[in-house]
Amino acid sequence: MRIPLIAGNWKMNKTIGEARAFARELHSLLPDHTAVQMLVCPPFTMLYELHGLLAEAGIQLGAQDLFWEDNGPYTGEISAAMLIDTGCSHVIIGHSERRQVIGETDAAVNKKLTAACRVGIIPILCIGETLEERKAGQAEKIVSKQMDLALQGLALEQGEKLVIAYEPIWAIGTGINASGQDAQQMSRFIRQLLVNKYGPAIAGSVRVLYGGSVKEDNIEEFMQQEDIDGALIGGASLNAASYANIVRLV
Ligand code: PGA
Repeated sequence: MRIPLIAGNWKMNKTIGEARAFARELHSLLPDHTAVQMLVCPPFTMLYELHGLLAEAGIQLGAQDLFWEDNGPYTGEISAAMLIDTGCSHVIIGHSERRQVIGETDAAVNKKLTAACRVGIIPILCIGETLEERKAGQAEKIVSKQMDLALQGLALEQGEKLVIAYEPIWAIGTGINASGQDAQQMSRFIRQLLVNKYGPAIAGSVRVLYGGSVKEDNIEEFMQQEDIDGALIGGASLNAASYANIVRLV
């Protein structure tokens, strides 16, 4: 049984004051009992401050990136241990915005993923194709290559220690989401890659999320799919009411 995971990716948004207000509002809006695992990934500057407030509302904390070394002369970087120190349980790795805007390579993604698993913070590995690649019928080939390079050398003893987010790049922040069927097809493909690498038991407990223009209107369509175990949500996670509604719909 894979518990659904609804993860919010705030990207580079909100001040500490706005983040506190969000946490308080969300707390008041959420149902008393939910079988959904909730996670919010704010910018680094708010992690420590938000940890307690989110925990009170039953929400876990995640970061949006890390660096692969534990400490040392790496100006501007943040290690996995530092994230755990702020209260993070998860970290997003290899988001397409980092790959495309910052120039993060598959090799860097692999090092980050390895560091996260070594130190004990759960990585949310982001993968996905561009529109050109999809139109050219290359989507599975690209996703398979990204998975292969990211997971190279990574021993995984428990599927719960890894989350994969399938995020087609053309669907991120565009308002144009993938269809439930296309997202399911790719999620099934991703799970098969995990079966090949780690065997059916471990692969069966890895959560595969869909991301890309998820909102209240379409969350149910994704959650009905057999191999989709939740969502990584950008824009719609910035608003406490829409995040709470999405959780309720799941
Ligand atoms: P979006 O972003 O929900 O705003 O499309 C998703 C993401 O980048 O994780």
